Amino acid sequence: MPQSRRDFLKFMGRTSVTIGASTLLFSELALALKDTTSVKPPFAPLKPTYIDKLVLAEGFSARLLIKYNDPINETEFFGANNDFLAFTAFPGKTDEGVLWVNNEAMKPLFIHLNDGPRGRDEIIKEQQAVGGSLIHLRAENGHWKFVANSKYNRRVSGRTIIPFQKGFKIMGSTTAFGTLGNCAGGYTPWKTVLSCEENYDTFYGDVSYENKKRVFIENPTYKWYEQFPLPPEHYGWVVEINPFTGSATKLNSLGRFEHEGAKVQMSRKGFPVVYMGQDRPGGFIYKFISSQKSSLDKGTLYVADTSKGRWIPLDIKKTKVLKKHFNTQQDVLTYAVHAATVAGGTPQDRPEDIEIDPVSGSIFVSLTNNYNKDNFFGSLFKITEKNNDYESLEFTSETWLTGGLEKGFACPDNLVFDNKGNLWMTVDMDDKGLSNGIYKGLGNNGLFYIPLKGENAGKAFQVASAPKDAELTGPLFSDDYKTLFFSVQHPGENSHSLTELTSHWPDGGNSVPKSAVVAITGPALDRLTQL
Ligand code: FEO
Ligand code: CA
Ligand code: CA
Ligand code: CA
Repeated sequence: MPQSRRDFLKFMGRTSVTIGASTLLFSELALALKDTTSVKPPFAPLKPTYIDKLVLAEGFSARLLIKYNDPINETEFFGANNDFLAFTAFPGKTDEGVLWVNNEAMKPLFIHLNDGPRGRDEIIKEQQAVGGSLIHLRAENGHWKFVANSKYNRRVSGRTIIPFQKGFKIMGSTTAFGTLGNCAGGYTPWKTVLSCEENYDTFYGDVSYENKKRVFIENPTYKWYEQFPLPPEHYGWVVEINPFTGSATKLNSLGRFEHEGAKVQMSRKGFPVVYMGQDRPGGFIYKFISSQKSSLDKGTLYVADTSKGRWIPLDIKKTKVLKKHFNTQQDVLTYAVHAATVAGGTPQDRPEDIEIDPVSGSIFVSLTNNYNKDNFFGSLFKITEKNNDYESLEFTSETWLTGGLEKGFACPDNLVFDNKGNLWMTVDMDDKGLSNGIYKGLGNNGLFYIPLKGENAGKAFQVASAPKDAELTGPLFSDDYKTLFFSVQHPGENSHSLTELTSHWPDGGNSVPKSAVVAITGPALDRLTQL
């Protein structure tokens, strides 16, 4: 925590939160920002802090909803490393429904509580920890709670058999074993959830595709293939889930790459258009225009050429150069990164989340960073389709806001617009940058509020600061905008052993850290969304 004499630290008290048998303490610290401008900030924002707590600005308070390994039914538990959140209300209700939670990754030390050798049994446990969790939620007196023993509580995990879309047979199979690397996602208008498989290569490796041939690159961190020799081509898709039944399908039509998220926007003609980022240095921005009004089964995938402001079809019949490199359209979609490269897509600085400004209709893309190009702080990039038509194949684009020490944030990741058209953004400064001091002074990762209009337009005000090594992910508003949910992902990620834990969040003491989902309420949130 910065200790300058000018800092004004105000202790706001401690809130005791009881979840099941355990009582948790959330310290709510208000760190008033010294206002160096004449413009009044929208609330008293946090100053950067390095403490191992979920710290919130004055007027916001947190309740923990659920954390890793909490039982959700008689046989299953809540998964690890929670990220994207998607709430689907029961028909006719706004205060009860099912929350889908991505369980993006896992750390073997925290799964097995030892760092011994990992055989088949250990890998099965790791497969059970990833994928996603469906949990029944209900609001009581304005506070959201997990409903235990509900028939809606279930897992879709790294061990669930998931079919590919009709007509797709990938590496000889019409199904995949499990979903993994589930990072961000989206919703469809027909009330299903989209969950995006991002860093799939860390589990089963990856393949490259050159001269119409595949070459296996054997470099997965977790080496699951030693026990389960599954093809990398079964991962890296967007998965569509029915939150009420748990049924899932891998959407091959949206292409296979390191999918960050999937923002669905209906076009004027009533066709779904899906905007997607590929989170890797030099990754591309894609969009899919569906040719069907209430499914994503058929349509065209495009890659953005931001130098010329055009969408290039990744369609072997429409883009001639693809014929030289691919035999079939299914291969184009399966090796979509190679297709995007040869078709002339513009490499970007790690596209993460994408959201659409409800006022201007422009598409906001988080470009988190690109160390290969000495871009350490990232930016928010804005795309505006010609005539604001989401089916248009021409657009303009510009950098809207860059990160930096003077801006108070770096490495934008998840985005969500509120009901007033203002932007909420989480950031993800990675370990490499933190350890060599690039981000010195910015504190832990956090959540920021960015007004889009008025005198504070384009300024980032910090709402929350994450515990040690964690990032805040999956921001999601309740239907009435009185609650903001988010995930606290991977606290203590840099711990080398159980005796050298870098975080003990959320249980405190000497406990092993756990990722968890929290619900934020309070008068400061009400002032921003209700007045
Ligand atoms: Fe899983 Fe790109 O963040
Ligand atoms: Ca992300
Ligand atoms: Ca989002
Ligand atoms: Ca990230």
